[in-house]
Amino acid sequence: MTAVQSGIAEMTNATERPVPDSLVGAPPPSPAGPAGPEDAGRASPPMVPLPRTLQVLRVNLRQIEFVFRWRRELGEVFRTRGILAGNPVLTCHPDHVRSLFTADPALVPSITAESPLRPIVGPASVLTANGPRHLRQRKLLLPPFHGEAIERYVKMIGEVTEREIDRWPIGRPFALAQRMQEITLDVIMAGILGVDGAPARGTPEFGLRTAVKYIAKASTTRVAQVAELMNVGKEEAVGLQRRGMAILDRFTYPVIATRRAAPDLDERTDILSMIMRARTEEGEPLSDRELRDELITLVLAGFETTANSLAWTWERLVRSPAAHERLREAVRSGDGAAENVEAAILESMRTRPVIPAIGRRPTVPWRLGEYATTARTPIVMSILLLHHREDLYPDPFAYRPERWLTRGGTVRKPGTYEWIPFGGGTRRCLGAALAMAEQRVVLEAMVRRLDLVAEDPAPEHAAHRNVTMIPARGARVVVRSRR
Ligand code: HEM
Repeated sequence: MTAVQSGIAEMTNATERPVPDSLVGAPPPSPAGPAGPEDAGRASPPMVPLPRTLQVLRVNLRQIEFVFRWRRELGEVFRTRGILAGNPVLTCHPDHVRSLFTADPALVPSITAESPLRPIVGPASVLTANGPRHLRQRKLLLPPFHGEAIERYVKMIGEVTEREIDRWPIGRPFALAQRMQEITLDVIMAGILGVDGAPARGTPEFGLRTAVKYIAKASTTRVAQVAELMNVGKEEAVGLQRRGMAILDRFTYPVIATRRAAPDLDERTDILSMIMRARTEEGEPLSDRELRDELITLVLAGFETTANSLAWTWERLVRSPAAHERLREAVRSGDGAAENVEAAILESMRTRPVIPAIGRRPTVPWRLGEYATTARTPIVMSILLLHHREDLYPDPFAYRPERWLTRGGTVRKPGTYEWIPFGGGTRRCLGAALAMAEQRVVLEAMVRRLDLVAEDPAPEHAAHRNVTMIPARGARVVVRSRR
């Protein structure tokens, strides 16, 4: 039995086992950072002893088993052979994470520049650029994602959610992930385009929304996964992806052209208008191509991740009766509602991070505890392994939202290098505040209004799509009743 399977088996009777004194701990320190001359004699991390092709297959099809197995056999730092050039090293120690998040960004470029997303969102979007270009794009995009700006969306998120919940069938099983996507797509489109709820038929916005949904659905097929592999390392999309992008572009450019011509462009508070008005330090506006790349980045980075994160929260909740009941009680009585909602989200993002790993390619040799890497070796931070460290999160495979609540009932702030579902440093997820706001509003409304149960009591496995990890059956549930 793998660690995850045994973890899942343990999870089902988690409430019957003794509660450790504290559910958040601290691992022993492990020095890390740019390697100096004194580190010259350090060994390179142990290599997973399998041929490259087998490793690529295992990572694509059974990533969880792969990382847990080799962590168990080789320790907290090990090397792999994959698609990425340079035999990536995996680590899961918070001190190693800290060293990469706090380093000068010039020393630790992100490997998203090499990801399969690059041909889709372009080489120059905030997600795929490195160096000064990245910092410039990030600065332009930050204001609309600031906490205060997000507050403006909370009412809209609530309205979209209530409308969606009213449509769900009662007593008939369905996959929550798709329903969550309906909400998060409306929210991201509304935020970016300033459309209230679903855009009107016949508008370029409507076309764009339909195209995004179509492409998201198509990307679940095996054919699309092969198409994705074909695009690794490419500047522009080829094959199937190229056709998909052409469909998206057919609507995206008209959306941009219409907005450029809007008479109220200067007063508009939607994200597209804000970035259209933004100027670089040299006074340059973004070109149509740049706006297109950022728009697609935000839509693609934003809606499926948030939808699947919510789906995982429910996948866990309907199989964790004690946690589900406590949350329902808190939300419906109003006593500790916000705190319990927050704790439920923090815990599902810990145990089911939608993006299971992120990486940097340091330009210099890097020390990782007892080992050192050579310059330009990619270092992958396994979020999944970090979030399941026994010394950091005792009883790591159990879903225990109470981990995040203090005795006084307040929420314990997650550690910057210990809880990293949104990554960190200068590459931290730009949409984190929006994603958290969305999850709070949607989860609260669902708990308040719905009694949900699992269609099948067996936990759902994780399926890997693009760089994400999602519930294999889409978090299937049955609504018992709605108020
Ligand atoms: C639960 C939902 C989400 C999760 C789990 C998530 C996770 C992540 C992660 C792990 C990264 C990489 C961070 C790193 O390498 O350090 C990232 C980057 C990014 N995310 Fe998200 N994300 C979510 C929602 C969103 C939303 C709603 C948006 C936008 C509307 C968004 C936009 C971005 C962008 C633009 C980047 C690139 C930032 C940069 O490289 O500077 N994400 N996200």
